[in-house]
Amino acid sequence: MVNGEFVLRGGEVVDATGRRRADVKVRNGVVVEVGEDLDGRRVLDADGCVVAPGLVDLHTHLREPGREEAETVETGARAAALGGYTAVVAMPNTEPAIDTAGVVRQVLEAGARSCCDVRVAGAITVDRAGTQLAPMAEMAELGVRMFTDDGRGVQDARLMRRALEYASALGVVLAQHCEDEALASGGHMHEGEWSSRLGIPGIPSEAEELMVMRDIALARLTGARVHFQHLSTAGSVAMVGAAKAQGLPVTAEATPHHFTLTAAEVASYDPVFKVNPPLRTAADVAAVREGLASGVFDAIATDHAPHAQEDKEAPFDQAPPGMLGLETALSLALTELDLPIEQVLALCSWQPARVAGLTGQHGGPIAEGAPANLCVIDTAATWVVEPERLASRSRNTPYAGRKLTGKVRHTLLRGEPVVVDGEAQR
Ligand code: DOR
Repeated sequence: MVNGEFVLRGGEVVDATGRRRADVKVRNGVVVEVGEDLDGRRVLDADGCVVAPGLVDLHTHLREPGREEAETVETGARAAALGGYTAVVAMPNTEPAIDTAGVVRQVLEAGARSCCDVRVAGAITVDRAGTQLAPMAEMAELGVRMFTDDGRGVQDARLMRRALEYASALGVVLAQHCEDEALASGGHMHEGEWSSRLGIPGIPSEAEELMVMRDIALARLTGARVHFQHLSTAGSVAMVGAAKAQGLPVTAEATPHHFTLTAAEVASYDPVFKVNPPLRTAADVAAVREGLASGVFDAIATDHAPHAQEDKEAPFDQAPPGMLGLETALSLALTELDLPIEQVLALCSWQPARVAGLTGQHGGPIAEGAPANLCVIDTAATWVVEPERLASRSRNTPYAGRKLTGKVRHTLLRGEPVVVDGEAQR
């Protein structure tokens, strides 16, 4: 099966070069022909669908090692494939943290057995503690191209400067979870009207914006690339837009929850709406959407953050932050953003592939000789999110019961159909 021949028939191919009606023939993991009326030993129906490069998630928590009750590389990769992803970047806030070559190797080995191309982000600092640089070079030697202390931002500006200089020399990118811990301390939701009404301590927008401001300054000082993770405020969007206009080497991602949900959801006191950075105001949601439309954001990233039910079903102030994302991200973008599908796919596939250094394997044009990492999207299909039917080991989606338009029909990883007709094949 892995080395079989397939024709994706009847679809419209959409990639960075444009859109055209064409069948796609795949053999031995590679696209061998793109054209009209192709025959093959096995046909996968793409009638009425868009055939696109597989999606790339810059921000996935797979919880392995250490929190396998919430997710494993295997279950997270399956959720990714069902969501149309052929590559994900696993975050290093595992237990232990991914801060040495040994842990990188462990996650990559589990990834190699899974139904998605699992890449790894290494930690910037030892144990993500923010005091001492992690051995980035030994991780980079194993192919790690992104480093972050995600879940935390690097608080010490001097250490961040040194990390940027080191990253620049290694040719890797630093990704920052922007949060000034002193200012955010004690907060559980966005600070504003709803935190006052609900009596829940807040996290001001400035906790994020101060670090965005600082790291733009450090990008200017060092000339090193900085990738801003899960930006959530109008102020952050404006600052990154201005930095890009000045030609600074910055990129940024936004999550589906920050373009679809506001702090008003917290009125339910349901911890499923607790996330970091927190859900913000309607004006922030509008700014994030505008940033996606205008090119301030390079990527939609899921921040897929599974948590076991017994952990998440705690009082709001005690529950861990985080939401599932892999199986709903593309559908939310197609349903909620008023953008042409080419732009949605740019944000979900070829632009994040570039940020992660995966060009050549993921997100590239669908043409003869290209690796067959593909997804087929039924753009007209409607479906309702049912938490118990998700492939993730956890259930903490904030979208239960929501009707979405657009669904992944097939996903091919290196030519292997890992999802067929919306069903995972292994
Ligand atoms: O909500 C979040 N959950 N934000 C983070 O930065 C970390 C993540 C997690 O690991 O659960």
